[in-house]
Amino acid sequence: MKKSDYIFIAGHKGLVGSSILSLLKNKGYKNLIVVTRKKLDLRDSNKVLKYFKNKRIDYMIMAAAKAGGIMANSLNQKDFFLNNIQIQNSLLQMALKKKIRRTIYLGTSCIYPKFSKTPIKEESLLTGSLEKTNQCYAIAKIAGIKFCETLYEDHNLDIICLMPTNVYGENDKFDAIDGHVIPAMIKKIENAKKKGNKFVKLLGSGKPLREFIHSDDLASAILLSLEIKKKILEKKFNNKLPILNVGTKNNISIKKLSNLIARYINFRGKIIFDKNFPDGTYKKNLDSSKINKLGWSPKINFYEGLKKVIRSRIN
Ligand SMILES: NC(=O)c1ccc[n+]([C@@H]2O[C@H](COP(=O)([O-])OP(=O)(O)OC[C@H]3O[C@@H](n4cnc5c(N)ncnc54)[C@H](OP(=O)(O)O)[C@@H]3O)[C@@H](O)[C@H]2O)c1
Repeated sequence: MKKSDYIFIAGHKGLVGSSILSLLKNKGYKNLIVVTRKKLDLRDSNKVLKYFKNKRIDYMIMAAAKAGGIMANSLNQKDFFLNNIQIQNSLLQMALKKKIRRTIYLGTSCIYPKFSKTPIKEESLLTGSLEKTNQCYAIAKIAGIKFCETLYEDHNLDIICLMPTNVYGENDKFDAIDGHVIPAMIKKIENAKKKGNKFVKLLGSGKPLREFIHSDDLASAILLSLEIKKKILEKKFNNKLPILNVGTKNNISIKKLSNLIARYINFRGKIIFDKNFPDGTYKKNLDSSKINKLGWSPKINFYEGLKKVIRSRIN
């Protein structure tokens, strides 16, 4: 891979896309291609093909998606399904048509069965039923992986599928309803503090355990996936599509997470868990030994990363 290669980052304004964009810039990659959603709706396959018809793309990172927390997912299963299916179909069809040299497909740990043995290995895919609250999102992402599999194995298109654990970072959506667990919790606790409330209500029992990765650590896993030699992967994966979990091994309960966030925000009120809301999967930490063996490991300590995210909201 050369610093002059053309790299298209789909979803460059999002949490993951913005981290990989700044990492690639810092590493000296010169030809980074980005386009806003306003200019090009990636769900529209024909428009995508037309827009890129005469543009060079050597590598593509698929960080555009409809993503969100348990609330957003469970209330909008149809939208999560359709948006993700359409975006990934447009991008993967374009990759095939333009013979893009390598595509990085981003999945999620939600693709694994609800009762997978933990830490979850890549081989658990399609071995059991999914968690109900985000099954349409998960099914769309699984469809994408299977599409990647046939493109890789039957059409000789180079793709790497990364399955990140829960991502957090400075450029997240800090929305109490649409956000993922960390930004939604930060927003709710910030609001409670601002209003001088004596308590804050959070969803679920607080008992589930979650693993988190900072978006900059995920960006470094994407960079490794772009740069690694195809021959190494072909040997390791026996010429099959590489699917790699990307996790950090840290596991923290939602209750402990809420206490940490309250402490960092300096909210002294009570935290109440509303057990009427679903918890999602109890534990879903990933076995990331495959990507670790390829030379990637996370660098950002969770407590430091979380503090930095909260500090970035104050400054
Ligand atoms: N965040 C997590 O916890 C997590 C965990 C595991 C896997 N992932 C995966 O990682 C990838 C990136 O997620 P993220 O958290 O970075 O999501 P995000 O912050 O919501 O960013 C998504 C990006 O996609 C763009 N986008 C969405 N629909 C589009 C459309 N129709 N046309 C053009 N652009 C569109 C958004 O554009 P706008 O800026 O205009 O909205 C945004 O830039 C996704 O595949 C997600 O499934 C995320």
